[in-house]
Amino acid sequence: MAKAPLKVGVVGMGGIGNLHADCHKADELAELVAVCDLIKERADKAAERLGVPAYYSLKDMLKAHPELDIVDVCTSGYENGSWHYEPTMEALDAGKHVLVEKPISNDINEAREMVAYAQKRGLYLGCNLNHYFSIPAERAKKYIDEGQVGEQVYCINKVGFNGSETGYGGPGAPRWNRPYSHAKAFLTHPFSVMRYFCGDVTHVQAFMDKPGVRRRASDLMLSIQSIHMRFENGCVGYLLSQRGDAMFGLGGWWSFELAGTKGTFVIENCVEKLTYYKSGAEPEVLNTGITDFNSTFPRRIHAFLEDVSNGVPLDNLRASGRDALATMEYIFAAIESYENGGELVRPHPLPPLHGAVGTI
Ligand SMILES: NC(=O)c1ccc[n+]([C@@H]2O[C@H](COP(=O)([O-])OP(=O)(O)OC[C@H]3O[C@@H](n4cnc5c(N)ncnc54)[C@H](O)[C@@H]3O)[C@@H](O)[C@H]2O)c1
Repeated sequence: MAKAPLKVGVVGMGGIGNLHADCHKADELAELVAVCDLIKERADKAAERLGVPAYYSLKDMLKAHPELDIVDVCTSGYENGSWHYEPTMEALDAGKHVLVEKPISNDINEAREMVAYAQKRGLYLGCNLNHYFSIPAERAKKYIDEGQVGEQVYCINKVGFNGSETGYGGPGAPRWNRPYSHAKAFLTHPFSVMRYFCGDVTHVQAFMDKPGVRRRASDLMLSIQSIHMRFENGCVGYLLSQRGDAMFGLGGWWSFELAGTKGTFVIENCVEKLTYYKSGAEPEVLNTGITDFNSTFPRRIHAFLEDVSNGVPLDNLRASGRDALATMEYIFAAIESYENGGELVRPHPLPPLHGAVGTI
C-alpha cells in the first residue's frame, strides 16, 4: 500500500521558500499544507499562488496544523543564516522533522546546538546541501564506490560567482556587508561536496582577501577564499571561491576534480558534465543536457522526503544537520586560520554517530 504523503509546512517565503514549496507540491511523497512568513504580503502572495493557507508566525502555523510531519525552514538573515536557529528549534520542540536551508546557522554554537537537539529528540534534521544532488555527482560517486578512482590523491574545487570589477555594485545589504558573509553563507556548498566525495577534513589552512574595488568602496566582505586542506583518508584538497570579482576560467563557475591512483573525474558547472579519465583509455564523458542549477532542489528535497518516509536510521539521513555542521566547522577553522596568518587549524570534532538498533 502506498504510504501517505508527508505533510509539509514551509517557513520563509522569499525566492527560496517559494522554490521549496514548488518542489513539495510536485513531489508525490509530500503534501504542502501551509506556508508562513513574518511579512504578511509575502505569506499571502505565496499562499494564494500555492493554494494553501498563510500564517504570519511559525507558532500559529504549528498550532493550526498539529498534523504537520515536516517544517521546511527557508529563512535567511545575516550571512544568510542568522534566522535559521529559532524556527528550527521551535519546530523540533513541537516534534517535527526539519529541513533547513544552508548554512545551518551562521553561528557555530547555534549549529552545534541544533544538531544535538534533533539527535536528543530523535527527529530528522536535514540541510539543503543541494550541490551534490545532481546526475554528475551521482555517477561520480559510483566511480568511487566501484573502485574506479582508487586511492584518493587530490581534489580541487573552484566555485563561486562570475563577475568583474566593472560589474561591482557596491557593498550589499547589512546581511552581506560583513567580513565573513561569503565564507559563511556560501562555502558550506563546496565543503559539502568535497566531504561527500573525500570524507572528513582533518587540517585546514586559509587565506582570504578582497579586490581593490571592494576596498575603495569600504565593503567589509572578504570575497576571495583560498583554502588548503587534508582529509582523514590522506587526500589533499584545495578550495578556491570568489564572489563575482572575476570570471572563472577552466571548468566554469563550478568545477570539481578528484584524482585517484586508478582514475580521475571532473564535474563541470555542477549539473552539466562529468568526465572520467583513466590511464591508457579514452575519457568517458557524460553530458546531461541540463544547465539549470535549480534542478538540484527537487532532487535534494525528494531525497529528504524519501529518507523520512522510509524511516532510515537518523545517522543515515542524507545531507544531515551533522553534515551541514561539518561544513561550518571547516568554515570556522578557515576563519581561524586566516585570522592567524594562515596557520594550520584542526577543525572542531563532530558529534559522534550513534548507530541504530540493528545496524551495528
Ligand atoms: N541551497 C541553495 O542553493 C540556496 C541558494 C540561495 C539561497 N539559499 C538559502 O535560502 C535561504 C533563503 O534565501 P532567500 O533569498 O529566499 O531569503 P529572503 O530573505 O528573500 O527570504 C526569507 C524570508 O524569511 C522570512 N522570515 C525570517 N524569519 C522568519 C520567521 N521566524 N518566521 C517566518 N518567516 C521568517 C523573511 O520575512 C523573508 O521573507 C537562505 O538561508 C539562503 O542561504 C540556498
